[in-house]
Amino acid sequence: MTKDRQKILITGAGQRIGLYLCESLLRDGFQPIITYRKSRQLIENLEQKGVIAIQADFSSQKGVSDFIDTLKTHTSKLRAIIHNASTWSKDESIVDNPEEFSALMNVHVFAPYWINTQCQTLLEANDGLADIISLTDFTVTKGSEKHAAYIASKAALESLTLSFAKKFAPKIKVNSIAPALIMFNEGDDEDYKKDRLDRSALKIEPGPKVVYEAVKYLMDNSYTTGTVVPLNGGRNLI
Ligand SMILES: NC(=O)c1ccc[n+]([C@@H]2O[C@H](COP(=O)([O-])OP(=O)(O)OC[C@H]3O[C@@H](n4cnc5c(N)ncnc54)[C@H](OP(=O)(O)O)[C@@H]3O)[C@@H](O)[C@H]2O)c1
Repeated sequence: MTKDRQKILITGAGQRIGLYLCESLLRDGFQPIITYRKSRQLIENLEQKGVIAIQADFSSQKGVSDFIDTLKTHTSKLRAIIHNASTWSKDESIVDNPEEFSALMNVHVFAPYWINTQCQTLLEANDGLADIISLTDFTVTKGSEKHAAYIASKAALESLTLSFAKKFAPKIKVNSIAPALIMFNEGDDEDYKKDRLDRSALKIEPGPKVVYEAVKYLMDNSYTTGTVVPLNGGRNLI
């Protein structure tokens, strides 16, 4: 008989950091449940390996509610939720399409708020402590000339971390991870990369492994809640 694996929800896990978290959790014996927006072959490959994949678009409140309805058909228990889905909207794009502002707030604020609220009982059904972990952004502490709306929405997500840590204690721990540079985007040019690398003390592009290390720390630690874990290579020192 196969052991019932603990289920972990990771939003936006079709690429990059979310995908790495999904594959690492799968390897470590968990049952990932992921959301993705764009269909791709990779999602079918993950499903063949036992991942539960749910297509969801969090840019509207209905998209979030529909996703929760589907999630509840797959499980009545969750070990953890990782809020990873994100839209890195530029302010110049929002100026042209102001409705992008609401979509940004839905993805980074409403979706975590509503998923936490509606999934509290699933987390409480876990044997032992459960976790909610949100991926925010180091720049919340600095502000941004080009991504003010994105950063404001991530600041709201950090605030939700505090409120839900209070609301959901002692059974559910709630924390954020605030990364600076983790991975460059395809198409970033060499001057941009050098500038970004020079902004931290460690001067490396660490890749998604460091995010998984932070996730594991938070899940394994039984005395940490309501915190923001910095993950910035000493970006705060420069
Ligand atoms: N990468 C970095 O260096 C860095 C630095 C600081 C903070 N972070 C944070 O770390 C997290 C992961 O970063 P990343 O670079 O891996 O992000 P990413 O490549 O932009 O991926 C984000 C995921 O979110 C999903 N998503 C976007 N809009 C959505 C929507 N409306 N509804 C549902 N899902 C949506 C995307 O799904 P589809 O691909 O299916 O469209 C995508 O897979 C993010 O929260 C980000 O803010 C990353």
